[in-house]
Amino acid sequence: MTDWTLGGPAPTDRRAVVMTMGALHAGHLALVRRARAEAGPGGQVLVTIFVNPLQFGQGEDLDAYPRDLEGDLARLADVGADVVFAPEPDVVYPDGDPVVRVSAGRIGEVLEGASRPGHLDGVLTVVLKLMHLTRPDVALFGAKDAQQLLAVRRMVRDLDLEVEVLGVPTERDADGLALSSRNAYLSAADRASALALSSALRAGDAAAAAGDGVSAVLAAASGILDGAPGVDRDYLALVDPDTVEEVPTGHTGPALLLVAARVGTTRLIDNQAVDVAAPSTEGGTAGQEASRD
Ligand code: PAF
Repeated sequence: MTDWTLGGPAPTDRRAVVMTMGALHAGHLALVRRARAEAGPGGQVLVTIFVNPLQFGQGEDLDAYPRDLEGDLARLADVGADVVFAPEPDVVYPDGDPVVRVSAGRIGEVLEGASRPGHLDGVLTVVLKLMHLTRPDVALFGAKDAQQLLAVRRMVRDLDLEVEVLGVPTERDADGLALSSRNAYLSAADRASALALSSALRAGDAAAAAGDGVSAVLAAASGILDGAPGVDRDYLALVDPDTVEEVPTGHTGPALLLVAARVGTTRLIDNQAVDVAAPSTEGGTAGQEASRD
């Protein structure tokens, strides 16, 4: 059996779908609650749980990825989900690895794509398949995976899919750590070190608001990351929210500050929307300094 009906009203015309890989935390549950609000009392909220092999690279944590279906079903019981679809891999990929896949194009080559080649192609391929299997009117994704959210939005636009894509703000612990299923891997010491990611984003946000300019935003965030014990930075970048291309040094206005780092053995990502106020001094016109380690 691959789906469970959890009760709730009979489906009408609006179906909201939340796609997950399980190991559900409060961030996922916030997505489901928002899905309930989007679907309305007469609509249907469907949650998918599927650890998608296609989006894990060689040496990544596919086998170790936390799985807790019973716990997930219990967590979903009272947040407004009507149906859970938790297929086995042979249901999603009956012929094994699919020959035809979706490409995230340039979005899949930079930042997350550079660190995890093929990852976003694997995400888009399964998201498209799950959209066909579940036929949502609206699909909700967390803003923590900002590049994934952008890639899904572009796929929907570029491939003329009839689904609304809704980004839902990142849920954080009280101390700022972005919720992630991978936080389960963190030791107590790792968890303390991991706070450097959200601290770095806040420092970058403050520098942006202060009108210190792009270089200062990156310097403020870098200073915190580089000073944090046990944090091995993968990338830190200030990007155009619509393209994930790095903004030029003289950029002002909206931008997205993205960070990825390994803390202990766990790779974490986080991001923060910032508004770069006009710098008080000229920062030059050359491209950003390299910010990838
Ligand atoms: O964000 C996730 O959990 C996954 O990437 C998704 C969207 C469920 C696709 O496997």
